[in-house]
Amino acid sequence: MADLDDLREGNKFGLGQTVKNQTFHIKGADNLSWGMKDRMTRIFNPKSGKSVMLAFDHGFIMGPTSGVERIDINIAPLMPYADVLMCSRGILQTSVPANTNKPICLRADAGTTILTELNNNVVIDIEDAIRMNVSAMAVMMAIGDPKMEAITVANLDRTADLGSKYGIPVMGVTAVGTDMARDARYFGLASRVCAENGANIVKTYYCEGFANVVAACPVPIVIAGGKKLPELDALELCYKAINDGAAGVDMGRNVFQSEDPVAMIQAVHALIHDNMSPAHAFEMFKDLKK
Ligand code: R5P
Repeated sequence: MADLDDLREGNKFGLGQTVKNQTFHIKGADNLSWGMKDRMTRIFNPKSGKSVMLAFDHGFIMGPTSGVERIDINIAPLMPYADVLMCSRGILQTSVPANTNKPICLRADAGTTILTELNNNVVIDIEDAIRMNVSAMAVMMAIGDPKMEAITVANLDRTADLGSKYGIPVMGVTAVGTDMARDARYFGLASRVCAENGANIVKTYYCEGFANVVAACPVPIVIAGGKKLPELDALELCYKAINDGAAGVDMGRNVFQSEDPVAMIQAVHALIHDNMSPAHAFEMFKDLKK
């Protein structure tokens, strides 16, 4: 029995005041469950509404390419400056210290390497994602690929069903194939299809006319960085994407292949969250560079 001594009647009912805290800060997330919203909030900062995801899942299709040869040496020093870590479960379990305490966007599909054609990707067991306490699951969609489109749409749908059941957001990753256009029409279509099939976040690429891609996508879009660019160009890419409405970046090579990855991720972080200009962020990069 609770202690009833000095039990005080409530008297601050705020009569006449509208209910507070009823609008959520993330696009398209108003009707999600509490658990989903909690995980989405771990990803998208409640103050800026944005996210700097550090992607280092490249090894799961490419092997130990430049920058991800040693996660403990090359990537671990970047982790404190990222809002979210995106990787495969093998890397998570072996190379990301469990006390890093960063939200994880788990690469949740598998099945293809650069040695083969795109094939029948499978989705990992949801129970494993739950055991690893991930904040989101990322699944690729090969929109426009005649053989793989339907299979990857089905993968995303199944992942969204499971995510919805257990309160784990799903990120749809729009693939870029050799035969696929890289324009606003294609990325707009692919991003919208991801969202319509249940993705809570979409990862795609910046392109001319990107504002239309963002406007027509009912959930937050983060951009991949793509191939390594000079640092100022990469910062300008981030700036243009944010200016056009992106909710952040999911960036790999332009960070971990930088001349100074630790300086670069800090510059990207400042640009995304503090509205720093590319020129200012580049100055910051140069100042921090060892
Ligand atoms: C894409 O599917 C990969 O998994 C990477 O996560 C993605 O391309 C982001 O990395 P980057 O900025 O190097 O393109």
